[in-house]
Amino acid sequence: MAGLKAAVIGCGAIAQNCHLLGYQKSKACDLIAAVDPCEARRKEAEKIFGVPRTYSTAEALFENEQPDVVSICTPNRFHAAQAILALEHGCHVLCEKPLCLTLADARRIQKARDKAGTIFMTAFTHRLFRGNITAKKILDKGEIGKPFMIRVRFAHEGPQPGWAMSDWFYNPDLAGGGAMLDMGIHAIDLAHYYIGPITSISATIKTLVKKIRVEDNAVLLLEFEQNCLGYIEVGWTSKPGFAGVEIYGTEGTIIFDYLKGLSVLRGKTSPDGTVKTSWRVADKHPTQGGWEVEIDYFLRHVRKGIQPEASLEAGIQGLAVALAAYKSAQTGKRVKI
Ligand SMILES: NC(=O)c1ccc[n+]([C@@H]2O[C@H](COP(=O)([O-])OP(=O)(O)OC[C@H]3O[C@@H](n4cnc5c(N)ncnc54)[C@H](O)[C@@H]3O)[C@@H](O)[C@H]2O)c1
Repeated sequence: MAGLKAAVIGCGAIAQNCHLLGYQKSKACDLIAAVDPCEARRKEAEKIFGVPRTYSTAEALFENEQPDVVSICTPNRFHAAQAILALEHGCHVLCEKPLCLTLADARRIQKARDKAGTIFMTAFTHRLFRGNITAKKILDKGEIGKPFMIRVRFAHEGPQPGWAMSDWFYNPDLAGGGAMLDMGIHAIDLAHYYIGPITSISATIKTLVKKIRVEDNAVLLLEFEQNCLGYIEVGWTSKPGFAGVEIYGTEGTIIFDYLKGLSVLRGKTSPDGTVKTSWRVADKHPTQGGWEVEIDYFLRHVRKGIQPEASLEAGIQGLAVALAAYKSAQTGKRVKI
């Protein structure tokens, strides 16, 4: 017995690519059980990941097992109730993003976490890419001076077909939103990670291409507590294009292009058009990390008894901005956070 007992609720794409895989590989825990209402997913959990016991509901899991750590990998609508159930059973929780769908539910999770006194992580995977960790260190050391602008773009062709193993992503009741909530929440979290609190937002959120009931594209304009602006573009309709983060500072620029690498640019562009630039590759393997390291990162924090940076509070902060973006898009007004 390795110590911690782990269980996974929801055995679809993210569970199989990150959570079930991570717990199966980890020497710090035993993967004792998993939950999914779909029999095919339960069989996969058993056959591919060697899960000894599976259940069709979270309630049945807790009636029969006493896990120490639980991952919530279900459609967004179920996160709040399942996270609270796990906390009420004294578990440490790794909850997929978005944390939940309302701030009232977020506060209920917070209350349950405070009562349980356990570790809670929101699955903000992008914080765990080497490129973002390196870029944050470069920013904090002052290599690009004071940041005044951040741009984050995350876009792909959408969760279905190709990714999700069930059809909830395009169902507003289960998902709570579309590309803005799914991809935008990662981008908003990175904006917080790099620059700090966002004070106001205006957003345009549209369904431009897909025949679906949730949005497939969004553009957000951000103002930060520190003197900095930001813009975020996310979408579910993009053939390959730029994906990543650019941070512009008074002394230079950080560009983390997820396809091409992480670079720091310094130099001078003169009004006559002459450009003198020094270009430094800051990390040769910036997209290492992410899902590969997420479970170890979570378990390390559980063992040490320290709340991770990708905390419950980070999940709440991200959700508050995402909800404000929807409000802005609906009202056509800038929304204070
Ligand atoms: N961190 C990341 O990078 C990342 C990437 C993809 C998805 N996600 C998040 O992971 C979550 C799941 O997404 P996915 O892509 O794995 O979807 P998916 O459709 O592939 O898997 C969801 C699974 O949950 C199961 N399920 C549905 N209702 C359930 C319930 N009440 N109890 C238990 N299981 C239930 C479904 O049968 C399905 O197997 C979402 O919140 C999504 O936003 C995060």
